Amino acid sequence: MSREQLTKIILPEDKTPRFWYNVQADMPNLPEPGLNPQTKQPLAPADLEPIFARELIAQEVSTERFIEIPAEVQELYRQFRPSPLFRARQLEKALDTPCRIYYKYEGSSPVGSHKLNSALPQVFFNKVQGIKRLTTETGAGQWGTALSLACKQFGLEAMIYMVKISFTQKPYRRSIMELYGGKCVASPSTLTESGRSELAKDPNTPGSLAMAISEAIEDALQREDTNYSLGSVLNHVCIHQSIIGQEARLQLEMVDDYPDIVIGCCGGGSNFAGIAFPFVPDKLAGRNIRLIGVEPAACPTLTKGVFAYDFSDTSGLTPIMKMYTLGHNFTPSGIHAGGLRFHGESPLVSQLYHDGLLEAVAVKQNATFAAAMIFAQTESIVPAPESAHAIRTAIDEALQAKEEGVSKTILFNLSGHGHLDLYSYDRYLSGEMEDIEFSEEDLQESLKSLPQI
Ligand SMILES: Cc1ncc(COP(=O)(O)O)c(C=O)c1O
Repeated sequence: MSREQLTKIILPEDKTPRFWYNVQADMPNLPEPGLNPQTKQPLAPADLEPIFARELIAQEVSTERFIEIPAEVQELYRQFRPSPLFRARQLEKALDTPCRIYYKYEGSSPVGSHKLNSALPQVFFNKVQGIKRLTTETGAGQWGTALSLACKQFGLEAMIYMVKISFTQKPYRRSIMELYGGKCVASPSTLTESGRSELAKDPNTPGSLAMAISEAIEDALQREDTNYSLGSVLNHVCIHQSIIGQEARLQLEMVDDYPDIVIGCCGGGSNFAGIAFPFVPDKLAGRNIRLIGVEPAACPTLTKGVFAYDFSDTSGLTPIMKMYTLGHNFTPSGIHAGGLRFHGESPLVSQLYHDGLLEAVAVKQNATFAAAMIFAQTESIVPAPESAHAIRTAIDEALQAKEEGVSKTILFNLSGHGHLDLYSYDRYLSGEMEDIEFSEEDLQESLKSLPQI
């Protein structure tokens, strides 16, 4: 079929990339080294070994351009990869735009998002090392679900600290995590010292990813058989997610197309990295391509944060990393895209953004849900609120191009479906959704606690 007819572009299974792409091989400036939280000296691999698998630590600092995907992971990837690339024909028609809009649909994975791309290899590399149990945090619940399933598939236990506000908004996420054999508690919890201390400060706190990370790390540090696993931010997670953009490139080649604009929503950054990083070499070679990360206006890490060394958690247990940050004590308001409520940003995304290779925009909650509704009514898929941020920007870009009378090829990552986000959709439909204003005052207060480096 010709490009003009194809709607669903399916890469044959035997064409799935067998290597992850590592942008560290091509960056003009590598991120500054992470620092040990106690000594503030550059991290040595041994500093990370109490909580991370050795292979994952090696990937953190690897400058190999391509890293082979283990056969055991490839086998499990085959159940849901390659994911489909869709041409958004109905959306294009509704917008009456001259642009071609494509979306890569990661919601087609069994857990409903891109998160399994990293959960499987993370659990695999821990299993190889004899680890029996993993702890983690989860915002919207998508990462916790992916880690629960991956742990079950490789025979490990999963312990998940879920940000309290999402735990309340999405009770069925916990059901799925438990169905897959994981244990899930609302964070802050009374199970850890850091959880108890947050509850003592504010018993009604909505929680945050930074608090849940503290709890998960503290738990992992208590037991020899337990490691910690992070669903975004770190270099190895961005490497695993590169499978998304690599597949999308091949799928676009199948229809003889190439994007002018690549868009991904940005929480900790691995989803945006996944779709965008495989295009960075072309951009460096002079190709005219824009790579845009989209964040919530209520948690605008790239667009309003500072580029500084900071912790990823509230208790100061994580390595200190140079990244865009709103400060580790910044508690983002309880917006409905729980997976984007993180104060920091992947050091790789941060460095590339700082060097002008990536762009960022911040969008408001109501405008995002309005875009989600247009998308659901045209393309039929109910998107996750996080993914709807990318949809908003794709629509805005397509309308802008229409106004300018130019045709562009727009690619975005539809990182997940929103079947467990209906509480949020109900709030939107009943007109009760607020556009929470970002507080400059809170930001200035939170930035006071940046570590002195
Ligand atoms: C559906 C969905 N999309 C995107 C994100 C953000 O991902 P990342 O932290 O990799 O930027 C999340 C995070 O939970 C998510 O659940």
